[in-house]
Amino acid sequence: MTRSAAIILHDYEPSTNVFLDDVWAGLSQPAKRLPSKYFYDQQGCMLFDAICELDEYYVTRTELAIMRREALDISARIGPRAEIVEFGSGSSIKTRLLLDGLRQPTAYIPIDIARGHLAATAAQLRVRYPNLEVAPLCADFSEWFEPPECNGAAQRRVVYFPGSTLGNFEPDDADTLLARMAAMAGPGGGLLIGIDLHKDQRTLEAAYNDARGVTAQFNLNLLARINRELQGDFRLNQFEHVAIYNDTARRIEMHLISRRPQTVRVAGREFHFARGEAICTEYSYKYDRGEFRRQAHRAGFRHVQTWTDDRERFAVMYFETIG
Ligand code: AVJ
Repeated sequence: MTRSAAIILHDYEPSTNVFLDDVWAGLSQPAKRLPSKYFYDQQGCMLFDAICELDEYYVTRTELAIMRREALDISARIGPRAEIVEFGSGSSIKTRLLLDGLRQPTAYIPIDIARGHLAATAAQLRVRYPNLEVAPLCADFSEWFEPPECNGAAQRRVVYFPGSTLGNFEPDDADTLLARMAAMAGPGGGLLIGIDLHKDQRTLEAAYNDARGVTAQFNLNLLARINRELQGDFRLNQFEHVAIYNDTARRIEMHLISRRPQTVRVAGREFHFARGEAICTEYSYKYDRGEFRRQAHRAGFRHVQTWTDDRERFAVMYFETIG
């Protein structure tokens, strides 16, 4: 445990060994893959925050506008004395809108894989909300981790999962994650989730191929991180960022494409790339509201209310656990 400014951070950060195992395993597949959760080192968190400011990346702006406009309605739905457990809290910007609207929230438990960023954000929240218990937990939430203890004063626990981060999970993994969230919310608990909606291919592809190349930098930072932390020797200018919308699977697919035949070493192991060979680095699934309601229902949630923007680009949905 790490103490900083009276905050106890529960630490299940994946070790460098786990990172290395995942990278070796992913690059050994016939179709090379790297898990998108490793985007978020310090540099990656900064680049992601820069993506959120881009004109083309409508996702964050649209969700924030919904949260701003509906904060009181959402908070009324959740009710007083809620404990908020957030998955993938990042900079907790949207959370502030939620916390500002809630009546007497009892505790806020941000969960994130990026420990430094999490600790800094938690310290800021502590100052802004002196009466709120802030209990950060560093973990890779796609794996099992020790669930946080419930604040005794809480009336209900609400899992907050904004940003359409669920989109990074393939359908089976998304089902598993939602079921674990239902278990964590417990009887009478809730789920407030942000879901990016299916839309025209041009808008979607522009959002992941911005003119300034910030998303390309974000994607390539994964290779830079492997170089920094795992003694890799990727030459970043020998890989190209590509993001396309797969309309059948309803997902954005981000790749890094080898510009020529080359051999790369990672912690002493060699990996060969043909010219044009891809590493798949991220899926970002887009949803249909009705389908998502059914998916959440299978995981143990009953739909309560949906808030969306005028153009129905993004949905913020509230569910309660069944039973
Ligand atoms: C934070 C996972 C929701 O998929 O839109 C942004 C990450 N990747 N641009 C997304 C991301 C490229 C983002 N999520």
